[in-house]
Amino acid sequence: MSASARHPLSHPRRPHRRRPARFGSALLGLALLPSALSLAVAPQAAAAATLPPVVPQPVSQTAVAGSGFTLTAQTPIAVVSTAPDALGVGSYLSALLAPATGYTLPVSTAATAPASGALVLDPTGPATLGQEGYTLSSSATGATVTAHSAEGLFRGVQTLRQLLPAAVESTTLRPGPWTVAPVQISDAPRYAYRGVMLDVARRFFSVEDVKRYIDQSATYKINTLHLHLTDDQGWRIAVGALPALTTTGASTQSGFTGGTSWYYTTAQYQDIVAYAKSRFMTVVPEIDGPGHTTAALASVPGLNCDDRAKAPYSGFEVGISLYCLKDTRHIANVSSFLTTVVDAVAQLTPGPYVHLGGDETPQATTAEYDAYADAATRAVTARGKTVMGWHQLGQSTLPAGSVMQFWGDASDRASVGTANESAGVKQLRHAVAQGAKFVMSPSDHAYLDMKYDSTVPYGLSWAGYVNAQKAYDWDPTTATAKTDGSSPVVAAADVLGVEAALWADRAYRGSTSLPTSTSQFPAPPVYAEYMTFPRLPAIAEIGWSPKSTHDWASFRDRLTAQGPRWTNAGIGYHAAADLTWPATPGTLDGVHTLTAGGKSLDVPGSSTTPGTQLVTWAGHGGTNQQWKFTRQSDGTYTLVNQASQLCADVNAGSTSPGAAVIQWTCGGTTNQRWTVTSVSGGHTIASAKSGLLLTTASTADGALVTQQPNSASPLQTWTLS
Ligand code: ACM
Repeated sequence: MSASARHPLSHPRRPHRRRPARFGSALLGLALLPSALSLAVAPQAAAAATLPPVVPQPVSQTAVAGSGFTLTAQTPIAVVSTAPDALGVGSYLSALLAPATGYTLPVSTAATAPASGALVLDPTGPATLGQEGYTLSSSATGATVTAHSAEGLFRGVQTLRQLLPAAVESTTLRPGPWTVAPVQISDAPRYAYRGVMLDVARRFFSVEDVKRYIDQSATYKINTLHLHLTDDQGWRIAVGALPALTTTGASTQSGFTGGTSWYYTTAQYQDIVAYAKSRFMTVVPEIDGPGHTTAALASVPGLNCDDRAKAPYSGFEVGISLYCLKDTRHIANVSSFLTTVVDAVAQLTPGPYVHLGGDETPQATTAEYDAYADAATRAVTARGKTVMGWHQLGQSTLPAGSVMQFWGDASDRASVGTANESAGVKQLRHAVAQGAKFVMSPSDHAYLDMKYDSTVPYGLSWAGYVNAQKAYDWDPTTATAKTDGSSPVVAAADVLGVEAALWADRAYRGSTSLPTSTSQFPAPPVYAEYMTFPRLPAIAEIGWSPKSTHDWASFRDRLTAQGPRWTNAGIGYHAAADLTWPATPGTLDGVHTLTAGGKSLDVPGSSTTPGTQLVTWAGHGGTNQQWKFTRQSDGTYTLVNQASQLCADVNAGSTSPGAAVIQWTCGGTTNQRWTVTSVSGGHTIASAKSGLLLTTASTADGALVTQQPNSASPLQTWTLS
């Protein structure tokens, strides 16, 4: 690991180019379109306390009286369609609910929606719902998501899951009950583009890591995955005609050398694209240039002015590389290279966009930069795709319909309308004048690699600290406006949406200096989840929810309610310090007596024989009524009897109701692990193997203890003392 810190923390990561002649005052004073946004449905006032906490905030949400709809193992998922994509949403929902509930809800096609008793997914709703809109009605008798497309159903299912208890996100069996909160929701997105960028170039994320990130992002109705596939530190996609891009270009990461498989094969990339599609997410591949190109320069000699391959780069600096664009021969080399690469990538990408980067090229002349933009944009349009680029690309001539991604910050906004507008603002104005559309990723709000605060081990802070409130308190229509929100450079009508960006060059502990050991790098998902949650849901809400619902106090409370969901899902989120998170449930470690129906859990006759069935008996304080609770890493407990030192155990690992609960030699198996849940009047104690509850047969002395389904009975509600 060489190289000094690429961004001294006080220095923003900015392009250093000075191009005075190009942006004269002729480009100023463009007509600005009115920033009105019409909404199909009038939003409600901030959610009342009785409404379930949903992120992103739905357009309208009304409480429905009653107790809600409780799922059983037989509840059907009735899809009012025979279309594979709609049925696929049904299968997705069934699979989503299976780990925690233990149910495999049957998915079926229904000619018409069942009147009650089902989870109904109906894609035959009116066209006025739009591509992603939906309504969701739940009451004591059932729950129905209605949309005009499978995609709308999928977005509605993300709301539906948040109407179930947080335990539904658990990866292991939990006791339930599984009741859908009763509510009436009508919903549709504010913006069509709601993205997240994953930097798989500077830190490689495996296919499984990317899929996990897709699932996590889809929960918050993110519909675009931008993969930053190439950078100085690595080239991550196989291009058949250019094998060196992967044998050499993929051999490094920031902080790592010697890799042989840090890239996606064609089949793996297709697998990611297909997985994203199954979550109604579009992949935007980014081939960055003309800077951020050392991996390509190390692989293809003719991209260098001296026709000699550069050494692969595993450091941490930016602005260090440039394709050779100094003469016609090298411009032809770059053009041919980009055509080969873009052809390969475009062919594998069903989505409309190819992202061409264009950022951070301090050493490029105008002619060099324009030569890149010309070659790269031709390669994209020749394939029938639409050009995306960082907003720097706006300085060049853009094909019609291009989309620029703004990543500037407060210093750009402060310059708007002054005599010294920043380079970024000038580039934006040039793009606006060419009719471009815009995705907003203001780095001081939407860059997920910025530290939340000074205590955060990962990331940078050149755009300032981005705590949860900073991630939430901004608006796409004023991201390019003056500091007071007036005179936006990009008119509201030209904003396509928002994107959160997770750069991964500082994905190691101690990131305010360079790493000295690879042991500072956690597994990529650990970094990703820490930096992404809770901030991605903030960006997602800005992209989805009507501006009129924007309210920090409401968002804060709905956001922190997600914490237990993330814990249950095994998402290593950061309990950001500007929020008050639900208390971690206190550990129950220690020796307890357990009482249900007025009698204590007891090993009859103080037996020390493995296999003895447990009973309940009048409490007497003996050691055969004392149970030692020990919390396991998955949050469950083992219960060891203090007379026998044997473990409470579901006989033979049964998952059947009525199976005996016995004592047995402790072995750490799931039929000896118990999930303890607070309920009214005490706790339920569920087998981690079966999800069934520790239950005594009666209030009589000697009543036998078995596992049974949850019936909210006092005979399965235990008090601990
Ligand atoms: C960027 O952060 N260089 C787009």
